Amino acid sequence: MTFFKKTIRDLPLQGETVVVRVDYNVPLTDDGEISDDLRIKASLPTIKYLLARGCKVVLLSHLGRPDGKEKKYSLEPIAARLSTLLAKEVVFVDDTVGDTVYQAVRRAPKKSVLLLENLRYYPEEEADSHAFAKAIVKSTRAKYFVQDGFGAVHRAHASTHAITLFLPSVAGLLVEREYTTISHAMHTPKHPLVAVMGGAKVSDKIAVIEKFVPKADTILIGGAMANTFLAYRGLKVGSSKYEPDQAEVLDRLYAVVAEKVGQSHVDDFLVLPSDVAVASSIDTHHTRSNRSVQHIHDSDIALDIGNESIERYSAIIAHARTVVWNGTLGYAELPEFAHGSARVALTLATHPQTVSIIGGGDTADFALKWDGGEGASFTHVSTGGGASLDLMAGKTLPGVESLLDA
Ligand code: 3PG
Repeated sequence: MTFFKKTIRDLPLQGETVVVRVDYNVPLTDDGEISDDLRIKASLPTIKYLLARGCKVVLLSHLGRPDGKEKKYSLEPIAARLSTLLAKEVVFVDDTVGDTVYQAVRRAPKKSVLLLENLRYYPEEEADSHAFAKAIVKSTRAKYFVQDGFGAVHRAHASTHAITLFLPSVAGLLVEREYTTISHAMHTPKHPLVAVMGGAKVSDKIAVIEKFVPKADTILIGGAMANTFLAYRGLKVGSSKYEPDQAEVLDRLYAVVAEKVGQSHVDDFLVLPSDVAVASSIDTHHTRSNRSVQHIHDSDIALDIGNESIERYSAIIAHARTVVWNGTLGYAELPEFAHGSARVALTLATHPQTVSIIGGGDTADFALKWDGGEGASFTHVSTGGGASLDLMAGKTLPGVESLLDA
């Protein structure tokens, strides 16, 4: 699939100063250690491409949702990790606009990398402030803007939207790859296409599930979201987490599913677990007990799909040619309740001919840990959480729309 926006390949970059928006909003431990560097690694191809053309690369990112200049959200530790990954010095600049930035960029030689401080230390960033975007351009004296922070392109902020009004703006290699891979799976997938939808809430995923109804051959439901479906279908979910207010949304969903496949095939198309793994509380001491969904006890908390469902879901996935997976199927932070998710990962990994696209956030974290870090067992592990969901749901991504058309 060709990309509809210009990319860095379309620019005469030789020796220019280029501002690159990356998404280094990475998970940190309580001690401030980077616990997953997928997003940093994913930014390397664009940075290396620019360095190979003698550019001065000025990186912009946000980290977390700081309230003012909170030290724990500084990007300084990220500069250190990036430097290790690039095997090259990365100059960390202690501000995002102004004279400190101007001097640092001016002093830096060609083929150097600078990382500016957290964009969100300035409220102007999220306000999509034109003045702030202009100040970034002025401080860096950049010639081009490159959008490579796929995880942030669903936001219309100064560094994803306003800045494109002041510089010729194109996509980086990550944004291009994420966009084309996910769009291709949504628009021209190889069939059977199976959507595996998990996670906590129907309300977070409903727009995507609705998009899959006309496209997919089967939709598998898991995670705490499955409890909401089961409760809607009149089953008792005991002490499990569920959303009691989704009846209207699910009425609508089941109506379109029935229209597509016929009333008698609804449950073969939109598949719910037939059993669940339960515990009486969420902690490491509890082992899983299997329950049919007809017999969930009042004190049971459903924390994973059950053994029979794991077999059924795996068999369906094994026959797919494209699988889009978004949301873990259970409480995957605890290995005891990660069996369903682990079997999805294993089934995908052992069917390399199947195109497998794993949505960002918790699902990507799980798949990468399961895979030993690199995600090589899957076709594509997205760096975008909200951005990949919005793209799948067919929503416009402001950070992509604002780039120059191809
Ligand atoms: C993400 O992690 O989804 C992106 O970095 C966007 O972060 P935000 O939800 O705080 O805007």
